[in-house]
Amino acid sequence: MNMSLDVPDLTGNLPPENGIFVGRAVELMLLEQSSPIGSTVIHGVLGAGKSALALRHAHEHRSDYTLAWWMRASTAEQVEGGLAELAAYLNPWTSELGSRRAANVALAWLQANPGCLLVLDAVDRPQHVAALVAQLHDCGRLIITTRRDVYGWRKWAGTQVIKLDGLEPEDAVALLSGGESPTGSVRTAAAEVAAELGHIPWALHQVLAHRASTGLPLSDYLTQLRSSPVPLLQYRTADGTSLAHVWDSTLATIVEHSPEAITVLMALVRDPRALVPRSALNELGLSLPDVLDGVRMLRSHSLLLVLTEQVIQLHPLVRTILRARHSLSPRTESCERADTTARSEDTQ
Ligand SMILES: Nc1ncnc2c1ncn2[C@@H]1O[C@H](COP(=O)(O)OP(=O)(O)OP(=O)(O)O)[C@@H](O)[C@H]1O
Ligand SMILES: [Mg+2]
Repeated sequence: MNMSLDVPDLTGNLPPENGIFVGRAVELMLLEQSSPIGSTVIHGVLGAGKSALALRHAHEHRSDYTLAWWMRASTAEQVEGGLAELAAYLNPWTSELGSRRAANVALAWLQANPGCLLVLDAVDRPQHVAALVAQLHDCGRLIITTRRDVYGWRKWAGTQVIKLDGLEPEDAVALLSGGESPTGSVRTAAAEVAAELGHIPWALHQVLAHRASTGLPLSDYLTQLRSSPVPLLQYRTADGTSLAHVWDSTLATIVEHSPEAITVLMALVRDPRALVPRSALNELGLSLPDVLDGVRMLRSHSLLLVLTEQVIQLHPLVRTILRARHSLSPRTESCERADTTARSEDTQ
């Protein structure tokens, strides 16, 4: 078998960028400063724009890298499969080797050819990519995107960690306005809709999709979002997603691993305060270790912000959606399960 891996054109497999990109100047600068060698973890809540940020950097700095390879990496199998695909891209004959051996060929090639960019998108656990980070740390650039905010990322010496949250308010307004700078009441409505949704780009795109198909002005969207949000949140865009259902799989995972976390979550959803003193969680009938475990779990899924030792805050987007969902009828399954768990915990 011909094992030489010199291919004439190393364009790689970067996905194209999709539509307008606003803001993130600081994060792009941080990424730029640490290229072209080293590892970066971009973590943040669902839809914060982690993948879009990595993609923007990759396209903007494509010429800094000899090869740019993008792979989904939410499981260990996907990591291996993505590397095997890279091996096959470099030399189609490696597809005869089987996934593991092909992945090793890709790894050896990356080590022997410094200067590549590898994006590991949607990583769920540090351990799925830890070996790769250790092996490539000094010979290429790795960018990891993940919803998980866990200590594991910070254990890797020399790894840059970027937390991504909502857009800057003016960037969110620009996104909602198709790149324009609106004035007057249109601007005010855009700013307030964006704030209700925590300035999260994915949620703002859901609003844009709704507007594109219904023509509802932003001021009316805002009124409805505040007075009777359920139909807006349940609105499904062409890709089948809706604001109301976006947390379903996350909630299901949390219910499975930590019923305490759901008790804490529902208490925070019901609490009228945006900033909640930790002491409020002492009244849930849970032991201190269970409260701490619940907070840790919610935080690790980026649903919760721990502001100080005394104060915590539900992510604004999570708060808006789960509060509205709490009044849904018929109730959705995972919310129902979450509430049932919370009620049975309450009565123990
Ligand atoms: N800075 C931005 N400007 C304009 N649109 C953006 C920006 N960031 C993200 N988007 C858009 O918002 C949507 C969600 O972004 P993206 O998929 O990058 O989020 P994510 O944080 O990777 O989400 P997930 O947690 O599901 O992986 C996409 O349609 C993306 O194009
Ligand atoms: Mg992503």
